[in-house]
Amino acid sequence: MKSQIENLRRELEQHNYDYYVKSAPTITDFEFDTKLKQLQELEAQHPEFFDPNSPTQRVGSDIASGFEQVAHVHPMLSLGNTYSLGEVQDFYERVRKGLNEDFELVCELKYDGTSISLTYEDGLLVRAVTRGDGEKGDDVTANVKTIRSIPLRLKGNYPASFEIRGEILMPWAVFDELNREREEQEEQLFANPRNAASGTLKLQNSSVVASRKLDAYFYYMLGENLPSDLHSENLKAAHSWGFKISDATKVCKTLAEVADFINYWDVERKNLPVATDGIVLKVNSLGQQKNLGYTAKSPRWAIAYKFQAEKAVTRLNSVSYQVGRTGAVTPVANLDPVQLSGTTVKRASLHNADIIAALDLHIADMVFVEKGGEIIPKITAVDKEARFLIGDKVQFIKNCPECGAALVRFDGEAAHYCPNENACPPQIKGKMEHFVSRKAMNIDGLGAETINLLYQNELLRNIADIYALKIPDLIRLERLGTKSAYNIQAGCEKSKEIPFERVVFALGIRFVGETIAKKLAFAFKNIEALENATFDELITVDEIGERIAQSVVAYFADSQNIETLERLKTFGLQMSLSEEKLQAHGNALSGLSIVISGTFSQHSRDEYKTMIERNGGKNVGSVSAKTSFILAGENMGPEKLKKAEKLGVKLLTETEFLTMIMD
Ligand code: IVH
Repeated sequence: MKSQIENLRRELEQHNYDYYVKSAPTITDFEFDTKLKQLQELEAQHPEFFDPNSPTQRVGSDIASGFEQVAHVHPMLSLGNTYSLGEVQDFYERVRKGLNEDFELVCELKYDGTSISLTYEDGLLVRAVTRGDGEKGDDVTANVKTIRSIPLRLKGNYPASFEIRGEILMPWAVFDELNREREEQEEQLFANPRNAASGTLKLQNSSVVASRKLDAYFYYMLGENLPSDLHSENLKAAHSWGFKISDATKVCKTLAEVADFINYWDVERKNLPVATDGIVLKVNSLGQQKNLGYTAKSPRWAIAYKFQAEKAVTRLNSVSYQVGRTGAVTPVANLDPVQLSGTTVKRASLHNADIIAALDLHIADMVFVEKGGEIIPKITAVDKEARFLIGDKVQFIKNCPECGAALVRFDGEAAHYCPNENACPPQIKGKMEHFVSRKAMNIDGLGAETINLLYQNELLRNIADIYALKIPDLIRLERLGTKSAYNIQAGCEKSKEIPFERVVFALGIRFVGETIAKKLAFAFKNIEALENATFDELITVDEIGERIAQSVVAYFADSQNIETLERLKTFGLQMSLSEEKLQAHGNALSGLSIVISGTFSQHSRDEYKTMIERNGGKNVGSVSAKTSFILAGENMGPEKLKKAEKLGVKLLTETEFLTMIMD
C-alpha cells in the first residue's frame, strides 16, 4: 500500500510540474482531480503514511495558523535602484574598477510581487519565510505549500541543504478576477497585484490562499554546495530540480547588451502574465560577488533598474462622488481626456478626503496622472506653477449626493459613509444586487438592470420584496418578457434552498463577507441566536473583531432589518444550519471532557478552550477518571502527568488535536 501511495504522489507531482511550471499538461483536469481524490482517500485510510509534502497538502486547511517569526540565516537585503542608463553605466564602472578583471552580468526581470525565502533539506521544502524586516520574517510554509508551481519535493541532483529566494506573484488575470469579485461584494479592492499577493500570503486560512492561484519565480540561491560558481548555471540547475525560472534571463558581457535587454523588456513586459517593475543586474560569478561584497543595505554586485511609471499632465474639471452598496462614498476626479499607457484616461480615483487635502486640490488645476502597477490611474501631484486663475478648493461633500443624508466617518477609517442604509437609492439597489448575486442567493434573471427597472416601478424597495414579486406585475413592465418573469420566479423559488450561511452573507451586513458569514452561521446556528448575540459573545468567535461585532449588533438593532428578516422567514428561506451541517460541524468533541495542560506553540490556551467549546466538548480543570483526554503542550505539570498515567488518560499533542477537529 505504501508504494501505491508513493507512486501516486510522484505521478501527481510530475503533473503539477508539467501544468504549473512548464505550462504543458499531459492529462486533463478531470483525470488529475480523480487521481488526487484517490490519493486523498488512500491517505485517509492510512494515516501512518502521512507526508507533509504530499500533493494533497496543497489544498490548504482552514485552521488559523498565526505566524511564527523566524530569523533569516542570511539577511534579506534590498537592491540599490537606478532610473537611467547613465546610472546603470555608473554601476558597471564601479564593478569594473572593483574587480579589475573580466566579468559578466546576468540580466533578469524584476518581478513585482512579494519576496520569499524557501529552505530545502534533502530535497524537501521545510520552510517558507517572508522578507519581514529583512532580519526576520513570518513562517508562511502552510500557505506557500498551496502554490502549485513551487516544488514540495525536488527532482535530480540537488544539494542536501540550501535556501532559494524568489518572488511570489499574483498573475494579472487572477488579480482582475479577484478584484471583480471584491467589487461585486463591495470589499476594498487591491491596488495592485503586489498588494494582492502579499495580502494573500498573510491570510490565516490556507484554503483561501489555495483558491487565489499564486505563482512564483526564483532568482537567488544560498548554500554551501551550490552546483556552480556561476549564478546563471545555478539558475539552470534550479530549473532542472523543478523551480520556475524566468526565460527572460540573459548573460551579458557588454553595457550595450545590457541596454538592449532593458529596452526590449521595457516594451515587451506589457505582454507578460505577471507584473514587473524593472530589471535586475547581477555579477555572474559568485566568487566575484564575494569580492565586491555588500554595503550596509544592499549588495555591491547587483542593482535594479526601475522602469519609468507612465505619467501625463491634464486638467481637473470636477470631482464627483459615487455611493456604493455599503454607503461608502468614493471621490472621482473628472479630467480632460489624456493618453496614458495606450489608453485614454478621463477619470482618476481620489480615494478619500485625506488624499484630496494632502494634494491641496483646486478645480482647474493641472494634475499629474500616473498608472503604475495600478489599474485605476491616480493623481500623484498638482503642478502648482501652472495655476493662473485658482479655482475653488476641492472640499469633500458633507451630504450624500444621492439622498442628502449627512455623511459620517467611522473612527480609524478614511472613507466617508452615507448612514441612510434603508432609504438611499444606490444602497438599496446595491443591497439587492448583492442579495441576488452568485455567491449569495444566486437568483437567476435578476441583474442590476432588472433591479433598477423594478426599483423605478416601485416593485422593489427592500430585499424581501423580491419574494413578493407577482408574475402579472412583472409582465406588465415594458422591458420584461413573460419568459423573464417566469425565470425570476423560478430563481426565487430555487433560492429558498440556499443554505443558512449564504443567507447570512446575502443580508449584506457591513463587514460580513463570505468567510465571516460562515463563521457566524456555524457559531450561532440559527438566525434567532445570531439576532440575540451580544457584542461580547460575538467577539469570542474566531476572526470576529470589534468592528464586525459592532456592525452585527447595529444591524439587528434596526427595526427595519428585523421586519425584513421576519418577512424573509415567512417566505421560507433557510434560517438555520441544516441538520447535516450541524452534525458534521462542531460536534467532533461532543460529550468529551478535556483537560488543557502545558504551553502551546500554534494557538493560545484561550483559543484552545474556545475550540473545545465550539466543537461540542467541555474544558475541565483537573484530571479524573472521566477525563476523555488531555490536550498536552510542552512542560506539562508533573502532577497532572502522574495522574494521567495512573488513570490511563490519553495525551494528545496540539497537532493531533487540531487534526481531530478539522472538517
Ligand atoms: S535579487 C541580494 N532578483 O526586488 C539581492 N530580486 O529590491 C537579492 N526582486 O527583495 C534580490 N525580482 O523581492 C532579485 N530577479 C530578481 C528580482 C528581485 C524581483 C525583488 C526582491 C527583492 C527586491 C530588491
